[in-house]
Amino acid sequence: MKNEQNHKSTLQKSARDGFTSGLGVILVTLGSAVGLGNIWKFPYMVGANGGAAFIIVYLISTLLVGLPVMISEHMLGRNAKSDAITSLQKLAPKKQPWWLIGAAGVLAAFVIMAFYSEVIGWVLAYIIKAASGSLLTTDPGITAASFGAVVGSPWLSLIVQWLVILYVSIIIMAGVSKGIEAAVKKLMPALLVMLIIVCIRSLTLPGASEGVSFLFKPDFSKLTNAAILTAMGLAFFKLSIGMGTMITYGSYFRDDQDIPISASKVMLGDLGVSLLAGLAIFPAVFVYGVQPDAGPSLLFITIPTVFASMPAGNIFMVIFFVLSAVAATGAILSLFEVPVAFLSDHYGMSRKKATLSTAIALALVGSTAALSGNVLADVRIFGLNFFDLFDYMSQNILLPVGGLFICIFVGWVWGFGKIEGELSNKGMLNNPGIIRAFFFLVRWVSPILILVILLSGLGVINI
Ligand code: TRP
Repeated sequence: MKNEQNHKSTLQKSARDGFTSGLGVILVTLGSAVGLGNIWKFPYMVGANGGAAFIIVYLISTLLVGLPVMISEHMLGRNAKSDAITSLQKLAPKKQPWWLIGAAGVLAAFVIMAFYSEVIGWVLAYIIKAASGSLLTTDPGITAASFGAVVGSPWLSLIVQWLVILYVSIIIMAGVSKGIEAAVKKLMPALLVMLIIVCIRSLTLPGASEGVSFLFKPDFSKLTNAAILTAMGLAFFKLSIGMGTMITYGSYFRDDQDIPISASKVMLGDLGVSLLAGLAIFPAVFVYGVQPDAGPSLLFITIPTVFASMPAGNIFMVIFFVLSAVAATGAILSLFEVPVAFLSDHYGMSRKKATLSTAIALALVGSTAALSGNVLADVRIFGLNFFDLFDYMSQNILLPVGGLFICIFVGWVWGFGKIEGELSNKGMLNNPGIIRAFFFLVRWVSPILILVILLSGLGVINI
């Protein structure tokens, strides 16, 4: 008996860690998708780009581009059961360098985490500020000065970022099922409850309907080519696709997971959370007569004044920043896992060593973003500081280009036979219509759309 147990535990140890149930897969994947993209980016980008018209382009992008790329990544990862680089190396025909997509993805993970960890750091600082009552003012001049003080302090900026790297590392080190999955399973329900509370508060304010109609009434005059690229890039960012996060997570899926169905659920869930965040923010913004197009500072300068205007606003402000931190945690875990999986799958590094190496590398790269508001404020590349450069580059270039190559690989190199086998779970599922629709999208529609939107958004072609 004892021997048998020993035997069992060695077997379990040698098997690759993975997600433990179908529900686990959906929650963890959704946990990756839902994050600051929903709560910080989505509202300010919708606000700055004309409301509902932007949402419509965003929706079309998630359907015609986002979903096919997500399904592709899950499929590749589950088939190869490795990190992003090794998976593509295993699946590509001999000597073809498709692993470069994975390598670009590992790079993108650091570029994204560099600014993402800093924003989470601000959110943590804001939980404390909100709880202490120091943000309880309706004067945007005061909240702007307060935000300026955080961004302007090099040490504060670094310390909050290190704090984020530290707690993320602790969860990652605990493993895929016992760390990531266990944490995200607790975080997601808490997030939903808090978001609904803030939504109800915002929607029941007298005059809330103006914010709702801003979200749902399209104004197409603001839809420039650049805005369309922003909407598509946001779809990539929101769904965590185009750089190997979903390949890595796909490698932890079970073989009986229905990939097209679970990816669709994640897409819908993520959209739901984005709309809820919009409904939590815009009605209140309009009720208190604040401009919705404040840009990235909406969350840290405008939102506090909005909460300060409402009854019991301080409590809702604290809830709001806690829920932002909760949402962001599930997302950054999935980014952090990309290099960690690469180091352990590819080089056989222990999880502990892989986590430590990633944490140190991130602290170094991330410091450029943390210091971009103070010590390095004058360092500009294409007119942008490091923080803005990382943000712009990842969303508008790295992710769409990565997605384009993933589509080309799946639709033109990997081919229909392999796709059919993987998406039907080797014939266990009867879904030929879904597979054919997916194949058409990934071979033609998605790559052409990505290419056209990318080139026109960057001003290379004019349509
Ligand atoms: N989707 C997350 C958000 O909306 C961020 C994120 C996590 C991400 N993993 C990613 C973005 C991979 C791009 C690629 O906040």
